[in-house]
Amino acid sequence: MCGIVGYVGKRNAVDIILKGLKKLEYRGYDSAGIAVIVDNELQIRKNVGKLCNLRESIAKNPLSANIGIGHTRWATHGKSSEENAHPHTDSTKSVAIVHNGIIENYIELRAKLQKDGKEFKSETDTEVIVHLIKKHYTDNLLHAVQKTLSEVKGSYSLGIICKDKPSKIVCARQDAPLIIGIGKGENFIASDITALLPYTRDMIFLENDDIAEITSDKIIITDINNNIKGREVKNIQWDAIQAEKDGYKHFMLKEIFEQSRTIEDTFRGRIYPDEGRVCVEEIKIKEEDIKKISNIYILACGTSYHSGLVSRFLFENFAKIPTEVDMASEFRYREPILNENTLIIVVSQSGETADTLAALRLAKNRGCRTLAICNVVGSSMGREARHILYTHCGPEIGVASTKAFAGQLTTLYILALDFAHKRETLTNKELKKYLKELWDVPAKIGEFLKKAESINDIAKVFAHQRDFLYLGRSVNYPVALEGALKLKEISYIHAEGYAAGEMKHGPIALIDESMPIVAIAVESKVYNKMVSNIEEVKARGGTIITVANESDKEIKRKSDHVIYVPKTDEFVSPLVTVVPLQLLAYYIAVLLGCDVDQPRNLAKSVTVE
Ligand code: AGP
Repeated sequence: MCGIVGYVGKRNAVDIILKGLKKLEYRGYDSAGIAVIVDNELQIRKNVGKLCNLRESIAKNPLSANIGIGHTRWATHGKSSEENAHPHTDSTKSVAIVHNGIIENYIELRAKLQKDGKEFKSETDTEVIVHLIKKHYTDNLLHAVQKTLSEVKGSYSLGIICKDKPSKIVCARQDAPLIIGIGKGENFIASDITALLPYTRDMIFLENDDIAEITSDKIIITDINNNIKGREVKNIQWDAIQAEKDGYKHFMLKEIFEQSRTIEDTFRGRIYPDEGRVCVEEIKIKEEDIKKISNIYILACGTSYHSGLVSRFLFENFAKIPTEVDMASEFRYREPILNENTLIIVVSQSGETADTLAALRLAKNRGCRTLAICNVVGSSMGREARHILYTHCGPEIGVASTKAFAGQLTTLYILALDFAHKRETLTNKELKKYLKELWDVPAKIGEFLKKAESINDIAKVFAHQRDFLYLGRSVNYPVALEGALKLKEISYIHAEGYAAGEMKHGPIALIDESMPIVAIAVESKVYNKMVSNIEEVKARGGTIITVANESDKEIKRKSDHVIYVPKTDEFVSPLVTVVPLQLLAYYIAVLLGCDVDQPRNLAKSVTVE
């Protein structure tokens, strides 16, 4: 969850690194730093706080070089301080390093190094690496890093420079993403695509155990034993503009408004409603194997977990496959009953979430078939799962996930229909109907978004409340959870999602005029039950904000505020009902002056447990 950028070439590395770090700031931002080589000496600048502090300090005392590495930090070991900020150097200031990940055996390594007389300036795990590199360094930086990493256990993506080798960056990757950007007479490294897009679309996604040496015109990729490894160059089609805010106040708002396109991009080339055809050959699961699937486990965290909860209804209703959904952090410590016909689906926007990755590896070790649904091409889960199905959301920069949720729901919906088709549990007529329902969703969301401002009016009424309750049933119960998560993670207001049927088993005691209740009551087989829940709340003086279908005039009498959304089949309704909840959270957070795109304590990609 830290951000790394490196550059070697003919341009000023400082500008390129600072711009790259800006794009990665969402990954973590309690401190930032840069190391460059000038006249065979290391120049280091580090600042606590946001990247702008580093930028200002460099503007006051300019720096220019053709090679450098930079870092934005989200603390795991050691508080947020200048000493703990990266880059770290050895005691002779010959080698500098930036690191994302966690070194699991750093305590014993540190003790050994201190016994050898090494002095440590920081509390970080990272510092042990740079001291080890210096210890192993004779005249070849790549070999020193190889030797060092043979002693190190844990996760890392590393960028390393050495004042004696002013034309080389060495980098390495183990369970934390690192990408090489290939330029003309210049090369780059970065934690993710968005930092590289302004300069190149040709990228190499390093894999575990890769250690690379990069100059302005050469890239050598090896392993710890100096065996040369070949890696494919991928041409990334993300438009650089996609990663910008293009006129929106926040990435989050831009990404909420991008959801129609996300859904279209995700189903394009995969569904043909008129023909009743689904095409997800990219998952490369044979039809006879799909027929053999005995049960499905969906494993994920946070918002991705909520999309998994929705998809349970899809796999069970469409494909008649028993489906369980579990938080990845819990699944890892259960004794789940799995067999070779169990399909494990991991859902992850980043493809790097540590708990989900660990759950995937556990399932693989247990012999299960594994399928990853990810948004980031070349991510760990995308490469480690046996099968992969990418959402096509483009970069999601806002820490609060919105369009990724839409991409995940769309992908899971298509997958469930593909399985249903191959297992013949839906007629062709039913398949066409459900495909058409999905096909029509982007336009319906676009319609709804035209009145987004009306949600701001509701936000103004409730922005200063301290507690919210979100209620839903069936496929919209996970949407209630998601709506609550959005509110709490960007506005810091306590919010809880609840299955509406559970109200009478305790939570109804909470109801009073100071707690707004958001209820999702769109047309479905549980609509009448939802209306009863709304009446129960009303009868106890609760304040109700209802999400309902435009044709439902009756609901107005029972609610204090109604947010009307276009009608859809209930199985695709979460794609639509979540949008007003995303906007409600967004507008409340803006009214409260919160840092919407980079909420406190959070990082976009949680690559530690
Ligand atoms: C959601 O808004 C949060 N950013 C968080 O819950 C996120 O969904 C979770 O950390 C999982 O991330 P992933 O999809 O990248 O695995």
